[in-house]
Amino acid sequence: MHDEILAIFPEINEIKDPDLRTRTAATWAAAMERSDLTYDDLRTMPFTLLVSEVNITFVEHVRTVCKMCIACWDVLQSSYGARNRVDRDIMIAGAMLADVGKVLEFTKQDGKFVKSERGKLLRHPFSGVGLAWEQGLPESVMHVIAMHSKEAAGGKRTPEGIVLHHADFIDFELVGG
Ligand SMILES: [Fe+2]
Repeated sequence: MHDEILAIFPEINEIKDPDLRTRTAATWAAAMERSDLTYDDLRTMPFTLLVSEVNITFVEHVRTVCKMCIACWDVLQSSYGARNRVDRDIMIAGAMLADVGKVLEFTKQDGKFVKSERGKLLRHPFSGVGLAWEQGLPESVMHVIAMHSKEAAGGKRTPEGIVLHHADFIDFELVGG
């Protein structure tokens, strides 16, 4: 099951700590078990339901944001070296899991992706933390998930949370703005 997740989200392989890497893939696998959606749905679902004409898939968004985070980290590292405050593994795990709850927030109805009943009650940052908690992800990763979206506006973010949040909104505003 993890093989399929790693094929869809190969950036998980960028996580150097093997335990963190396995738990990140396991969180995605557990989310898919709970979801109404199939792996084919996951591959094709649109990035967002907020914008009607979106030609970017959800998987492309997640991968692009993660790649932007890594590029950002590379610049910070080359500039600041040991003074770079961003933990690369935590940042990548957070980036790959920030939207994991979307497979519970979305469902498919008459061939269309729509918001699910549970998604109306708990948007993906909340369900994402629940899924990550179950799989034993560290609180530093759950923080990135919890703090990435509008619900956390005004809250204080860790360095990893700051990088992910801004990378996410670069892609979101370019696509949806
Ligand atoms: Fe999100």
